[in-house]
Amino acid sequence: MTRKYYAKLLGLFALLLGVHTLATLLLFNELLALSARQQLSVLGWDALLAGVIAFILILPVAAWFSAGIAERLKRVIGFARYLAEGHLAARLDLGGSDELYEMEQALNQTASRLEYSFAEIESRRKDLAVMLDSMQEAVVAVSADGTVRWSNALMQQIAGTQIRVGRPLVHSMRDPDLLAAIAEALTQERLRTGRAYSLNPGRIYEISAAPLPGGGALAVLHDVTGIEAAEQSRRDFIANVSHELRTPLTSIQGYVETLLEGPLPKEATLREFLGVIQKNANRMNRLTEDLLTLATVESPNYKVTPLAIRASSLVADAVESLAGVVKDAGLVLQLTGAPDDAVMADPDAINQVLGNLIENAIKYAASGCRVEIGAMRKADEVVFQVRDYGPGIPSAHIERIFERFYRVDKARSRESGGTGLGLAISMNIVQAHHGRIWAESELGQGSCFCFTLPLETPDEPEDGQLLSIAPRIDS
Ligand SMILES: Nc1ncnc2c1ncn2[C@@H]1O[C@H](COP(=O)(O)OP(=O)(O)OP(=O)(O)O)[C@@H](O)[C@H]1O
Ligand SMILES: [Mg+2]
Repeated sequence: MTRKYYAKLLGLFALLLGVHTLATLLLFNELLALSARQQLSVLGWDALLAGVIAFILILPVAAWFSAGIAERLKRVIGFARYLAEGHLAARLDLGGSDELYEMEQALNQTASRLEYSFAEIESRRKDLAVMLDSMQEAVVAVSADGTVRWSNALMQQIAGTQIRVGRPLVHSMRDPDLLAAIAEALTQERLRTGRAYSLNPGRIYEISAAPLPGGGALAVLHDVTGIEAAEQSRRDFIANVSHELRTPLTSIQGYVETLLEGPLPKEATLREFLGVIQKNANRMNRLTEDLLTLATVESPNYKVTPLAIRASSLVADAVESLAGVVKDAGLVLQLTGAPDDAVMADPDAINQVLGNLIENAIKYAASGCRVEIGAMRKADEVVFQVRDYGPGIPSAHIERIFERFYRVDKARSRESGGTGLGLAISMNIVQAHHGRIWAESELGQGSCFCFTLPLETPDEPEDGQLLSIAPRIDS
C-alpha cells in the first residue's frame, strides 16, 4: 500500500519533469529555428536561459519534496514493524493533512485497538489462571501431539515438578492410568474416566479426560482418597455387622431346628439348649444396642451438655456402679485418688466411658488382678486413668483398638461377650467433651487407659446447680 503510494508520487514527479524538459526543448528548438532565420535575437537567448534556470531550480525542490515523502514512508514502515514486534503501546506522531497523515492516523487506531484487545485477552487469561489455580481439582490440557498446553497449580503440586508448557506430558507425569486416559481421549475423541493410584503415594485420584473441540484433550483429577476411605469403612462396617449378627443367629437357628426336627430331648438338655439360645439372643440384643449407641455418638449432631462436676464424684460414681461386677470377677478395684477440681462433663456419658474401661480391665486382666482407677489434674484438664495388671496389649494393636469392631484376640473377645465397639463409643464420647483418649501398655505388665476432660470454665455454674443432662447413652 505504502509502496504503491510512493511509486505513484515518483511517477507523477517524473511526468512533471518530462513535460517541463519537453517544453524547454521545444522552446529551444523554436528559438534555434528563429535564430537561423532571424540571426538569433537577444530575446531568444534570454528565453533559453530562463528555461535552463527554471530546470536547475526545480531539481532541488523536487528532490527535497521526494526526500520528505520517503522519510515519512520510512517512519511508517518502521512503526509497522515495531508494532509487529509486539510494542502495542507505541504511537506515530501525526503531522500534516495529506493522505500520508490519514494512513498514519489509521495505523495509530489499529495499534490502539490491538492494544485494547490484547489487554482484554491477557486479563481474561489471568482470571482463568486464578480460577483454575483455586480449583479443588487438578487440571492439565494437552495438544494433539501430547505436549502440555497449560496446567493448574494443583496439577503441578501432584506432579511434584514443574510441568513445562510445550513439552510432552509424559516427561512430568508417568502414571499409566492418567496417560492412557488422555491418549484415549485424544485418539478416540470421547470422554474417558478412570482412577490413578500411583500419582501421589497414598492418594487416589478420579480421572476424567475429554477431547477439546479444536484438538487436544483436557484431563481433570479429583482426589477421592477420603471418599474411597469412607466407602471402604462403610463396606467394612456392613461386613462386620453382618458377620457379628450371623454368628449368634446361626447358633440360634441350629438349636431351634434340632429341637423342632427331632424328638424333644430330656429336660436338662432342653434347658441347656434354651440357655445357649438365650445367650446368643442376648448377644444379638447387646450388639444392636451398641450399634444404636455408636450411631448416636458418631452422628455429627451428637452433642453433650456438660455440667461442672467434681472429678472425684465421677470416679466415685463409677466405682460404686461397678463394685458388684468387679467382686464377681474376683478382682480388686482400687481407688488411687482423684482431685476435687470441677471438670465439664456429662455424668452419664462419662460414667459409661469409665464403665467400658473397667469392664475391659475385668474381661482382659486375669482373675485376682488389681484394677486401679484414679484421676489427676494436669494444667487445665484432669486426666482419668483405669489401670490393670493383666496381659497387656501388643504395640502393633494399640493404635487400632479404638476402631469399630477391632479386637486383639477375636475369639477371646467374642467368648467374653465383647463386640469390639466399647472403645469406639468411649472415644466418641470423650471427643464430644473436647477431651483425648489413649492407651498405654506393656506386654505382660498390664494396660493403662487414660482420657482427659477440660476443667470447669469460670462462668460455668457449680457442681449440681445445673439440671439439664445430655441424652442418656446406654451400651
Ligand atoms: N484392658 C485391656 N487389656 C487387654 N486388652 C484390651 C483391654 N481393653 C481392651 N482391650 C482390647 O481392645 C479390644 C477392643 O476393646 P473394646 O472395648 O472396644 O471391645 P470389646 O471389649 O471387645 O467389646 P465391647 O466393649 O464392645 O463389649 C478388645 O477386644 C481387646 O482385645
Ligand atoms: Mg469393651
